[in-house]
Amino acid sequence: MQTLITSAAQSITRNDFIPEIEMGLLAQSAWISPKFLYDPLGSHLFTAITLLPEYYPSNTEKNIFSQYQNQITDAVGSGGTLIDLGAGNCQKAEYLFNSLKPASYLAIDFSVEYLQDALTKIQGKYPHIHMQCIGMDFSKQIVIPNSITTCKRTFFYPGSSIGNFLKSEAIQLLRQIKNQARDGGLLIGVDLMKEDSVLMAAYDDPLKVTAAFNLNILRSINSHIGSNFKVDQFRHTVKINHAENRVELYLEALEDLTVSWLGNSRVFKRGDLIHTENSHKYTIESIKELLKNAGFETAQIWTDPKNYFAVIYAQ
Ligand code: AVJ
Repeated sequence: MQTLITSAAQSITRNDFIPEIEMGLLAQSAWISPKFLYDPLGSHLFTAITLLPEYYPSNTEKNIFSQYQNQITDAVGSGGTLIDLGAGNCQKAEYLFNSLKPASYLAIDFSVEYLQDALTKIQGKYPHIHMQCIGMDFSKQIVIPNSITTCKRTFFYPGSSIGNFLKSEAIQLLRQIKNQARDGGLLIGVDLMKEDSVLMAAYDDPLKVTAAFNLNILRSINSHIGSNFKVDQFRHTVKINHAENRVELYLEALEDLTVSWLGNSRVFKRGDLIHTENSHKYTIESIKELLKNAGFETAQIWTDPKNYFAVIYAQ
């Protein structure tokens, strides 16, 4: 039953990303899109992050799902297609299968090799659910294949991945979800604002798993454009931007160096930064406002006792 969608319109070819990568590397303040964190090794490192005690979003979200399982199931309803945006190892969706009982499951991720392996394993355990996976960079546009015929589409966007986007981009993405959900809705996990010490521990963990995850983006970029970044010339740096309510990840050059690729090059002075990720934190009010601006009319919200994280069903 499992299908890998590889039609020209939907498959991602590596070269598509060269212009975007070059734009970032040549910008006055260099940046690399966080989607490049998720090459096969990066996807495994992210899974390792989710197992760290300091990385509260995963545990907290999981606890909210288990504590409010009945209410969430009542809100979302069963049947239809569960569309998992950024499915990764598909573990969060699997957690919902027994309660939500979707008729079909569509797993979407940027990292399609990792996704395929995960889906193959999970399909064996749930033979009655029709499963498909698709490699897609949905940060710009969500394209749902025509083979998804059920009217009810439940978009599942857990883990506060929405936090990677600027407000305008987040609204754009949520609007597309709203327009494509038909009779269904959006089940989303959103990280909430909290004290700096908790954020710093989560994004600069003592085992340095997050540092490895961030530094690995340089190897991921080397494989996309043939650049010669050396991981040991940089270090993982975290800043909290209070004005923008976000955690920012950077790679800081430890020495003066030049990176070259495809006839281009970029000089980095010691201390220069490459911005690799924004992780926006919301309040209940600011996330409600965002969903409203995206066209959602209702939102049911569940949180944990410390108000670290929110799970929302919006229609
Ligand atoms: C997957 C984007 C939600 O922002 O917390 C984890 C990625 N970066 N540690 C996050 C991440 C560093 C994560 N998201």
